[in-house]
Amino acid sequence: MKLRTTLCFLLPIVKSALSYKTQLHQRDDLASSPPYYPSPWMNPKALGWEEAYKQAKDFVSQLTLPEKVNLTTGTGWQGEQCVGQVGSIPRMNLSALCMQDSPLGVRFGDYSSAFSSGQTIAASFDRDLMRRRGEAIGAEHRGKGVTVMLGPVAGPIGRTPDGGRNWEGFSPDPWLTGEAIAHTIVGVQNAGVVACAKHYIANEQEHFRQVGESQPRGYNITESMSSNIDDKTMHELYLWPFADAVRAGVGSVMCSYNQVNNSYACQNSKLLNGLLKSELGFQGFVMSDWQAQHTGVASAVAGLDMSMPGDTEFSSGKSFWGTNLTLAVLNGTLPEYRLDDMAMRIMAAFFKVGFKVNEQPKINFDSWTLDTFGPLYYSANEGHQQINWHVDVRGENGEHGKLIRESAAKSTVLLKNEGALPLKKPKFLAVIGEDAGPSGWGPNGCDDRGCNAGTLAMGWGSGTANFPYLITPLDALNFRAADDGTRVEAVLNNSATTQIEKLVAQESATALVFVNANSGEGYIDVDGNEGDRKNLTLWANGDELIKNVSSICNNTIVIIHSVGPTLVTDWYNSPNVTAILWAGLPGEESGRSIVDVLYGDVNPAARTPFTWGGKQEDYGAEILSELNNGEGAPQLEFSEGVFIDYRYFDKKNITPIYEFGFGLSYTTFEYSDIAIEKQEVGNYTPTTGETAEAPTFNPGNFSTDLADYLFPNGSFPYISRYIYPYVNTTASAAEASQDPFYGSTAEEFLPSNAIASSPQPLEPAGPGLSDEPGGNPQLWDVLYTVSAKITNTGDLKGDEVPQLYVSFGGPDDPPVVLRGFDRLAVEPGQTVEFRANLTRRDLSNWDTESQNWVVRDHVKTVYVGPSSRKLTLKATLD
Ligand code: NOJ
Repeated sequence: MKLRTTLCFLLPIVKSALSYKTQLHQRDDLASSPPYYPSPWMNPKALGWEEAYKQAKDFVSQLTLPEKVNLTTGTGWQGEQCVGQVGSIPRMNLSALCMQDSPLGVRFGDYSSAFSSGQTIAASFDRDLMRRRGEAIGAEHRGKGVTVMLGPVAGPIGRTPDGGRNWEGFSPDPWLTGEAIAHTIVGVQNAGVVACAKHYIANEQEHFRQVGESQPRGYNITESMSSNIDDKTMHELYLWPFADAVRAGVGSVMCSYNQVNNSYACQNSKLLNGLLKSELGFQGFVMSDWQAQHTGVASAVAGLDMSMPGDTEFSSGKSFWGTNLTLAVLNGTLPEYRLDDMAMRIMAAFFKVGFKVNEQPKINFDSWTLDTFGPLYYSANEGHQQINWHVDVRGENGEHGKLIRESAAKSTVLLKNEGALPLKKPKFLAVIGEDAGPSGWGPNGCDDRGCNAGTLAMGWGSGTANFPYLITPLDALNFRAADDGTRVEAVLNNSATTQIEKLVAQESATALVFVNANSGEGYIDVDGNEGDRKNLTLWANGDELIKNVSSICNNTIVIIHSVGPTLVTDWYNSPNVTAILWAGLPGEESGRSIVDVLYGDVNPAARTPFTWGGKQEDYGAEILSELNNGEGAPQLEFSEGVFIDYRYFDKKNITPIYEFGFGLSYTTFEYSDIAIEKQEVGNYTPTTGETAEAPTFNPGNFSTDLADYLFPNGSFPYISRYIYPYVNTTASAAEASQDPFYGSTAEEFLPSNAIASSPQPLEPAGPGLSDEPGGNPQLWDVLYTVSAKITNTGDLKGDEVPQLYVSFGGPDDPPVVLRGFDRLAVEPGQTVEFRANLTRRDLSNWDTESQNWVVRDHVKTVYVGPSSRKLTLKATLD
C-alpha cells in the first residue's frame, strides 16, 4: 500500500522523464524546438510591475511550501464554482482565485451579457470601442467574483479561414490583432480583473489538438498535433500580438494544447522561458489550457506557473503538480526559487489589477448549475449550500446592452450597396431565412451554443456566454416597421421554397435574406464540423436560398452572420443582389444593431478584418484534417510563412472578392496630401547585461520531514477528487527523488541548466532591467509620422477608417503590410487629418542570425488608403 502510494507520487515525475527521453529518441527527423533554460524569474524593476512585485514579495515571503503549491495548482475539473480555481490560503485571508471563460462574456453566467465576438469588434477598427468593450466584459467578470478572465485571444490568429475558433480572436493580420488585444487587455484590467492572453501559441486549428478528442472520432493518434514554425514566421506573425499583449501589461497567458516544433506548448522551454519570459520580459504567470499539461517537473522548469484545471484527466483526482510539486521541491528536483517564482507571478498579477487580499469579491455564481442551492464541490457532490446569487452585472440601466448594440452596429461591414441602403420607410419587407429569427430551442438551448439554430450571434465552445436575451433581426425589424408603417412578412424556414417564392415575387418587395456560417471549439461536432468548418459555404443551404430569392426579387439584400469569410462567389455580383452586409457575431443586440445600420441610424464604417476569396484554394494555407505521421503527432507545416490572408493573395496576385480592410459607407470620402515627418532617434542598441541571481524569499525555511506535509486532519473536511498540496505518505524525500526506471537523479533527467539560479544574460531583443515588458524599448521609437487629409465628399456624416500600409521592399516580404489605422468621424464637407506613427518595430524584419529586429536597407514605400487594395496615397521613406 505504502509503496503503491509512493509510486503514485513518482509517476508524474517519471512520466516527465520518460516523455522527455522518448521525445529525444523518436523525433530526430522532425521539426524540433531548442531548449531554453533556466526559467526566468521575475524582475523587481520591470516598469509597471514594481509595486505589484513588492506586494507579491511581501505576501509570498510569508507562505509555507504547501501554501505556495496551492496557488499553482487547480483544485480539479468541476472541483469548485469556476471553470478553474486554485486553492485558497485561509491563514493569510486569501480566498480561492477564480479563472473563468470567456472572451465575450461570463461563461455559464446568468444576468450577464453576451457581447459581440472578438473578430466582430476587430472590424470596427475602433480602439476606443475595443477598450470600452474590454472594460465592460471585465466589469461583468469582476462583478461575479472572477479573478482571471480567460481572454482575449490572439491564437488562433486565423492562419486559415476555416479555423474553428478564429471568431474568438480578432484578425489574421498581426498588427490589427496586436492593437485589438492590447486595448482589450487595458479595458479588462482597468475593470479590476486579470486578463489572460490565449492560446499561446500556434493553436490554429481544432483538428488533433487533443488526443482524447481525436481518438473517439477515429483518428488514432497518441500525441497532439505539432505546429511546425520557423523563427522568422514566429516573430513576424504569431508572436507579434502576444508582444503587444505583454506590453499592455497582461497578467496571465494560457499555453495551448498543440505542440510547437514537436514540444508541447505548455512545456516548451523555447516558447515559455525563451520567447515569452525572456525576450518579451513577461512578468505575469503562464497557466495551462485545460489538460494541456503533460508532465510535472518538466513543465515547471520549462516555464509553466499554474496547472489548470489541476488534474491530469478531468475529475481524476490526480495531478502532475499538487502533491507532486510539494515533493519535487522537498526532494530537490525542483529548485525552491522556481516555486517561489510561480507564486510571485500569480500574486503580482493579482495585485497589479488592484485586488486586495482581505477584500476579494466573493464568487457568487456556479459554472455547473444555475440552481440557487447545490454542491460547492460539484465533482465530489459535496458541500451543499447556496452557490448562486444571480447577481446582475450588466451595468446601470442596461448600459452594457447599449454598448453591445453600439459595438455590433459599428462593426457591421457594408460589402456592397447599389443604392438599396439605407432603407427609408420601405413599403414591404420580406424577411427570409432562419438566421432572421429565434431558435426553437431557446437562445441557450444547446450547451456551449453547440448547434446552429435561429439567428447566429456567437460561435460554439468555451468562448461563449449565456444570452440574457437575444433580440433577433426579425424582432427589431417588426418594431421598426410598426413605427414606419411598413408591412413585414417573414418566412424563417429555409426549405419553405413555395412560400418564399410567393412572398418575394410580390410587387415592391424588398427581400432581406439572413444567412449564416458557424464554427467553434473542437470538443463539439456540429453537423460534421469538428470545430473547424468543413468548407466555406453558407449553412442551411444559404447560398441556394440567396440565389433563389435574387432570381425572383430585384431588390435582394443579404445579411451574413458568420465566423469568418464565406464563399459569396456565385451570387454577389448578381444585379438583383443590391446590398450585402457582414454582421459577424453581434451578440445579444443582434437585431437592433442590424436595424441601426440598415436604416442608416448608424452610418457603416467597419472594415472586413479578413479577406473574402473567390474559392477556398485562394487562401493558400490549409487545415490539416488527415493524419500524416502514423499514430504520432500529426505534423502541420506552416510552410506558407508569413503569407496568410491578404499577404498571400497579394503575393500570388489573386484577386479577392472583398479585400482585407474593405468596407463601404453611405457617404463618400477623398484622400489627399500624404506627408512624412522623419523623427530624430538614435541608433538601435541591442539589450545587454544580465539578470540578478534567482531570489528566494525564505530560503530553506521549510521542514523536510514528510510528516509535516500530511493532510491536516481535523482542520477542514477532506473533499474527494480535490487536488491538495499535501502528501499522503511519509516515505522519505530521498526515496521520492529516485527514478526507478533509470536509477537517475533529477539533474540527469532535466535538461542542462534547467535549475541554474545564477544571473542569466538578457536577450538582445528583450527589455533591459528597468524597462517595460514587451521587448527592447527602442522597438517602439517612432521613426516616422505619416499624415494625410480625409474629406467627406458626401451629404451624410460618417466615420472613415484610413489605413496605413508599408511595403518593406525586400524579396521575401509581403507586397504590403498593415501598420496603422484610425477611425475618424467626419462631417459632410469637412476635412480631417489622419496621423499614424511608424515605430522601429513596424519597419523591422526578424533577423534569425542576430536574434533581433533589423530595419533592412530596401527602399520602403508607405501607402494610405481605405483598404488593402485601394492604396490611394503613396510616399517613399528615405
Ligand atoms: C479549453 C479552451 O481551449 C480554453 O480556451 C478555455 O479557456 C478552457 N478550456 C477553459 O474552459
